[in-house]
Amino acid sequence: MLSARTIYGEIFDNDEAFGLFCSIAASGEAQGGWENGKIAALVPGSQAGLAAKIARHGADEDKHGRIFTALLRKRGLEPVPVPADTDYTMRLEAAGIGLAHARLRREEELTEADIVTYLAHSRITEQRASEQMQALRRHAGDRPDIARAVRVISADEDNHLAYCHEELLRLAAAGHGEVIRATLRATALAEIAIYRDVSLAVMAHLGGILGWPRPKAAVLAAGIRGVYACERAGGWRRMVSLRMPARRNALGGPVRAQASHA
Ligand SMILES: [Fe+2]
Ligand SMILES: [Fe+2]
Repeated sequence: MLSARTIYGEIFDNDEAFGLFCSIAASGEAQGGWENGKIAALVPGSQAGLAAKIARHGADEDKHGRIFTALLRKRGLEPVPVPADTDYTMRLEAAGIGLAHARLRREEELTEADIVTYLAHSRITEQRASEQMQALRRHAGDRPDIARAVRVISADEDNHLAYCHEELLRLAAAGHGEVIRATLRATALAEIAIYRDVSLAVMAHLGGILGWPRPKAAVLAAGIRGVYACERAGGWRRMVSLRMPARRNALGGPVRAQASHA
């Protein structure tokens, strides 16, 4: 049977596949942590209230990176190099989505337009993260270590998404509405294609490790392309809506300490 649950099970049960899966996840989270840490330090004076929330966002992503690394180490594994074609964050950056890393490394104060770009990019990528963690939650149910880790991360990603909605609505009300709508649209359309390509690359690497026969790999690749077709045909619109979240000020608290279980 070729169900998502079986596929995740195969990955979780194989040390090499699990090692690559967690390494890719840890690296993406750590890059998110780095980006948010840089942005928090460069927030313009007009948006000073955001700095602590962005720092908290970055601290959460760093924590997620540590959680995935801890899952590896618990199995006696070490992180492995992440193949470039599976690097979601770097591929988004290379496509000009979000703030360029070179811009962040210049250590110059950001503009309000940069903050809109950052929040629109986060609105899209946090939705992806939130949906992926919900999928992992569904499929890791009988593996307590993984399920516990994913529950923690999933709750954080939902908070990150809520924060993006709230802050973008605030900036839209302050007159940035048109730019926000255009940026969200362009970001979503680019993201769905990059997500497809990264998913195909991840599946190809994992399939190689797990020795999947060609027909099985072909069915999975067709599934990934099918998801893209649905997203391109209109599914992308779910990623660009803005709704005031039930949970307000989701990142308003202090930066939390290390994950206790990691
Ligand atoms: Fe994360
Ligand atoms: Fe996040």
